[in-house]
Amino acid sequence: MTIQENISLKPFNTFGVDVTAEKFVSIDHFYQLQEILKKEKNIFLLSGGSNMLLTRNIDQLVVHINMKGITLDDENEDNVFITANAGEDWHDFVQWCISKNYGGLENLSLIPGFVGTCPIQNIGAYGVEVKDVITKVETLEIISGKKIDFSNEDCRFSYRNSIFKNELKGKHIITSVSFKLSKKNHQLNTEYGTIETELKNKNIINPTIQDISNAVIKIRKSKLPDPKKIGNSGSFFKNPIISSKQYKKLREKYPTMPFYELDSLESNQKDVLYKIPAGWLIETMGFKGKRFGDCGVHEKQALVLVNYNNAKGNDIFSLAKKIQKTILNTFEIALEIEVNVFD
Ligand code: EPU
Repeated sequence: MTIQENISLKPFNTFGVDVTAEKFVSIDHFYQLQEILKKEKNIFLLSGGSNMLLTRNIDQLVVHINMKGITLDDENEDNVFITANAGEDWHDFVQWCISKNYGGLENLSLIPGFVGTCPIQNIGAYGVEVKDVITKVETLEIISGKKIDFSNEDCRFSYRNSIFKNELKGKHIITSVSFKLSKKNHQLNTEYGTIETELKNKNIINPTIQDISNAVIKIRKSKLPDPKKIGNSGSFFKNPIISSKQYKKLREKYPTMPFYELDSLESNQKDVLYKIPAGWLIETMGFKGKRFGDCGVHEKQALVLVNYNNAKGNDIFSLAKKIQKTILNTFEIALEIEVNVFD
């Protein structure tokens, strides 16, 4: 475990933004993390770098979480209980589970990032959120250096959100995540429109979890840019949730506006709430596929901002603010940024 100096973080963030870490250390083992924390508490945590926008050089010690390892904790006839260390690549982990016929994560195939960050924003895609299968999140509390376990309930998961993005932001380092997965009678989520179409096109009537994963991979590849080729951080904004009053007003003006009605359980409200695809709002305002210098809005999915090569973090942040302002002025909707911006 050596502390390196003046390291470029370009390879460590999927936006491919070139900022420098004054000091950088890569952590392979839990005990190394404890050692580092004894000496330094003012750290900057870096995991898969898939949900962050860096706009400046980092003068804190950058701690790169690289702890690998998967353990089978327990199993019964129907389920397996698995723990993956925080530095495992998310997609590789999902594929490993599928290869063992462990069901529950297949809809979350090809999401960039590491296992340790999946609970922070409660990653979700194609009708599944990771909160549906998480049983425990293990952390190291930075201030005390103590190991703490969070149950699923403790994590206070909601749409693209958790306690780790709110009250506990920057206070804990996630070291591993535990999951409950199915061994048989998998609960398949195929009702998401594009998955259904994909399976139908292949004449698959009784899909396996591998078939679903393949369908998701195909859909994602057709819509979302590969961060290895073109810098991006997936959806840059959250899909906004609006009141039924505002929804009715907007539908009158924009009859083709897509929407998802949230059931009262999910929204925890008496009023019916509506989720509007931010991609549609952004596309409607003409941003889709537009390039601004070295950054822009992806041509196939307007929710995704891209770095064509040498964009600075602030170029991307300025574009995001411009989009927010336009959407606010036109639709009276305040788009919330989904990625973590360090400015
Ligand atoms: N749409 C447009 N233009 C666009 C993009 C989308 O009009 O450029 C409209 C279309 O009507 C489409 C609807 O938005 O039917 C929904 O689009 P899509 O199925 O692509 O999903 P999304 O709401 O844009 C969300 C997640 C994605 C996830 C997909 C699939 C958020 C913020 N994003 O996107 O997550 O893959 O659903 O489940 O909830 C990510 O978080 O990085 C991510 C990619």
